[in-house]
Amino acid sequence: MIILGISITHDGTLTVLKDGVNIFSIAEERLNRTKAYIGFPFLALKYVVENEIINPKEIDEVAIPSSVFLKDWAFTYAFELTENKKYYDLQNKKKPKDFFIDDDKYLNIKSDLDCKKYVDTKIKHLLKEVGITAPINYVDHHLAHAGSAYYSSGYNNALAITMDAAGDLLSATINICKNGKIERISKTDNNNSAGYLYSEVTRACGFKISRHEGKITGLAAYGDYTKKEDCFNKIVKVKDGRLAYVNPVKRNFRNRIVNKFLNVIGIERYMGASELIRRCGKQSKEDLSASIQHLLEKKLVEIVTYWVKRTGERNIVLAGGIFANVKFNQFISEIDELDNLYIFPDMGDGGNGYGAAAISYFKKNKFVPEISKTFNAYYGPEFDDIYIENMLKNFTDDVEYYFSDRVEEETAKILADNKIVGWFQGRMEYGPRALGNRSIIASPTDVTINQWLNERMKRNEFMPFAPSCLYEYADELFEIPKESMKFPAQFMTITFKMKNKWSNLAPAVSHVDQTARPQLVSKEANPRYHKLLTAYNKITGLPLFINTSFNVHEEPIVCKPEEGLKSLQKGVIDYFVCGNYIIQKKKNNHK
Ligand SMILES: [Fe+2]
Repeated sequence: MIILGISITHDGTLTVLKDGVNIFSIAEERLNRTKAYIGFPFLALKYVVENEIINPKEIDEVAIPSSVFLKDWAFTYAFELTENKKYYDLQNKKKPKDFFIDDDKYLNIKSDLDCKKYVDTKIKHLLKEVGITAPINYVDHHLAHAGSAYYSSGYNNALAITMDAAGDLLSATINICKNGKIERISKTDNNNSAGYLYSEVTRACGFKISRHEGKITGLAAYGDYTKKEDCFNKIVKVKDGRLAYVNPVKRNFRNRIVNKFLNVIGIERYMGASELIRRCGKQSKEDLSASIQHLLEKKLVEIVTYWVKRTGERNIVLAGGIFANVKFNQFISEIDELDNLYIFPDMGDGGNGYGAAAISYFKKNKFVPEISKTFNAYYGPEFDDIYIENMLKNFTDDVEYYFSDRVEEETAKILADNKIVGWFQGRMEYGPRALGNRSIIASPTDVTINQWLNERMKRNEFMPFAPSCLYEYADELFEIPKESMKFPAQFMTITFKMKNKWSNLAPAVSHVDQTARPQLVSKEANPRYHKLLTAYNKITGLPLFINTSFNVHEEPIVCKPEEGLKSLQKGVIDYFVCGNYIIQKKKNNHK
């Protein structure tokens, strides 16, 4: 049975589920090279058909993780589902003057039912263009988040907690999962959203929402949350295991105008970031970041603890954009009552294609495939040595290269010589993190690398680079609250306190609060990457090195070898190790 899961909103992503198991996933951004692309994965759909990853006639169902279609959202759906348009970042930019969209039917939408019919017709048309006529299952957004975390966790019973800015009018749900069934026991509407609050602070600090929230997490470590703690504590509360704003109102245009007026005459209602800042008084970006981070850390721990105690369920699985926050996850991991914690590797909306497809699969089969040991992060395209060599032949004026059958040992020596390596191997990662197949790697010993390498990559980060580490050394390197927390750390979704010795030996990957966001690399998960780490450890005595995503400023992670090669040509990396080829810029090439 083959089910396609297609997330059509933020981080449009396509997933192919075969007999309940993820066999291929790719985010549209990796193909169209527009970071965090909002909308239907048009190119991804063509890619899986043209590369014969699927046969359109063999698709049994298409699962879409959206189920609310309001007439007010007509333009957004038209934007997301129309390929021929002037694309812009809907959340952070104003509509450009030269905007166009090859669709005028959405202008006729007069009711929610019209909107639903419109979306259904558009999606059916897009599928039909590539020969897919399978039925469509529209899955609730947060149910898809819960499904992504639960069905890939390997736990038969778990408490699935979902939390984001908003999806299908909700911002959080709590679900009891058992024998493949998911039962929602609590929900929080989008007027009381933890995600919105964090995003609004992101915007207030001058960054882009749904893009730069990680910068706030990094900045927080430099700030002092205690200065305004009393004020922040009055902003949100936890009631019956749900986050609740003080005096929330519905988020819409009318209320925004009304609020502005009410604020002028001293009545405080809707709690957006600008009002938050006004209420608590001006503060630096660092202190504001620290305050919101600390506030939500406390509230999330309170919420998770409440539900663990109430349900008695000690396996916790998490999905939704909120859990992209590695510090929140660290605090949750430290809750005494937990036994196991798992964060879905593609925790944002991109992961919802998989979630919806897995929900569809269980609905049809009443059976959960044994995927606990097989779920990994490598579901994207791969390129063999023949492809790589053919590509390289086109660039012999610029680069020199050789084939190596000891690529791990040779790369380890290059790293030990303090060179920056673009490491490109096997199948591309699924989700936001580079996990050793599309990674830029470097020695962790030089603390100044965080400045100069970020400058080279034109990035502006407040968190140090993260390390890839040999799984076997996890306890030596970090203070890990429970053995089971090594599982989520394979996907770089959690921070741990680094032990003093290693914080000193590898200062480039230790934050000011002495935490690190490791990727624990086991031989089973990624044999070649594990071999590279082992070889590096043998030479240097360091079982870890820097792993940062293989991209430059505001670009998506590289997908094809050609995109990686560009980084070498531009001088971002010193060596490009692609498959079994070790590639350098030509010495006499001063371009
Ligand atoms: Fe979401």
